[in-house]
Amino acid sequence: MILWGYSEEQTGNNEMSATKVPDYWTTIIKSKTCQNPPSSLLSSSHLPLSPTSTAEKASLLTMTDSKTIPSKAPAGRTKGIPAGLSVEFRIEADTFPTDDGNPSPTHGDELSMCSTSVSSSVLAHEYKHGRRYHSYQGGSYLFPNDKEEQERLNINHHIYYRALNNRLFLAPITLAGKRVLDVGTGTGIWAMELAHLHPEAEEIVGNDLSPIQPRWCPANVSFIIDDIEKDWVEPRPYDFIHCRYLCGSIGDWPRLVRQCFENLQPGGWIEFQEGDYTIYSEDGTLAPDNYIAVLMTHLADACRRVGKPIDMAPSIKALVQAQGFQNVRESIYNLPLGKWPKNPRMKEIGAFSALQVVEGVDALTAAPFSEVLGWSKEEIRVLKDGVRRDSKRRDVHAMWNFHVITAQKPK
Ligand SMILES: C[S@@+](CC[C@H](N)C(=O)[O-])C[C@H]1O[C@@H](n2cnc3c(N)ncnc32)[C@H](O)[C@@H]1O
Repeated sequence: MILWGYSEEQTGNNEMSATKVPDYWTTIIKSKTCQNPPSSLLSSSHLPLSPTSTAEKASLLTMTDSKTIPSKAPAGRTKGIPAGLSVEFRIEADTFPTDDGNPSPTHGDELSMCSTSVSSSVLAHEYKHGRRYHSYQGGSYLFPNDKEEQERLNINHHIYYRALNNRLFLAPITLAGKRVLDVGTGTGIWAMELAHLHPEAEEIVGNDLSPIQPRWCPANVSFIIDDIEKDWVEPRPYDFIHCRYLCGSIGDWPRLVRQCFENLQPGGWIEFQEGDYTIYSEDGTLAPDNYIAVLMTHLADACRRVGKPIDMAPSIKALVQAQGFQNVRESIYNLPLGKWPKNPRMKEIGAFSALQVVEGVDALTAAPFSEVLGWSKEEIRVLKDGVRRDSKRRDVHAMWNFHVITAQKPK
């Protein structure tokens, strides 16, 4: 494990000071068959392959819409929500008339110092598929760690934050003098924002395989290069352990839950925030051959084949209960994909969800579809084109579920 972090001078109002460059650096070393896409996929016409343009992003995220009419009432039960569990609210679809007054089926055609002397392989990167990947425990995580992927992770952070109504966590804990661990921290954005909102927390540690976290940190934040699938060697137990968006990263979920339990103080809290990325619609507008549905189905298959499932969200509550946690509580949020909802916050979440799919389709397919599923470059290109096209559709009311599980270690 490698720990690094800048201790940052802070101004009186806890704003970060950009003028002082700390020379503080701490380094502590602790420690894959083929499946082809459906023929319909390959026979579909597709758009030219190009990176998402600024105009595309702007189009996906523009929130202003014209007049709205009530949508059809959603039919059937809400996917993944057990009987008796309430959801935030039903999502009403917005309408998008064109100049000729007819509904528009698409979003529009314009869519279109961590390292210093630590020069070990840990801080190096691997390059393949035109992307950059982590080097430490190389190959154990299927997704890139480059700037584009970091941007996608930060878009997801915004989605989760807005889904929770501008909250970073739901666990009923006050953070004054407390120690917090963010497991698989990614860009470190959750840990950084937590530190800014809670300077009273004693320490916030984020760990990850990839050294992609900021060099400039609040004084109470540090980042560690560590493999969370190995035995944890934590100096002291934490008061709060946060695990978010770890699907596709973990092979042994019961072990992860156990290590969290073992590394919590008695009375400490755990929180899992995990998407169930099985895309669905409540009104039948999402066809099985929708390219986003095809993407997610095959991605789940690829991750299952390498032993790191992405469909764990509905199972986490039971794992947490089996481990002996108390006060276990699960909240499930039905979130949109696409800016079809009428409600402004849901429209925003849907727009960012579509954007992260468009931004992320290359990252999500590069290694899993070629190395694991054995798809050809041409098959992957057709899929990516289709995903980019289907992300713009407003006549498809695609949805996914976001699970938040909080629980307490017995006192
Ligand atoms: C999908 S990202 C989520 C990042 C962050 N939790 C968030 O919500 O923004 C998963 C992260 O887990 C990290 N990861 C995957 N396997 C890991 C492992 N065995 N040990 C530590 N980190 C790991 C990846 O490097 C990546 O940054």
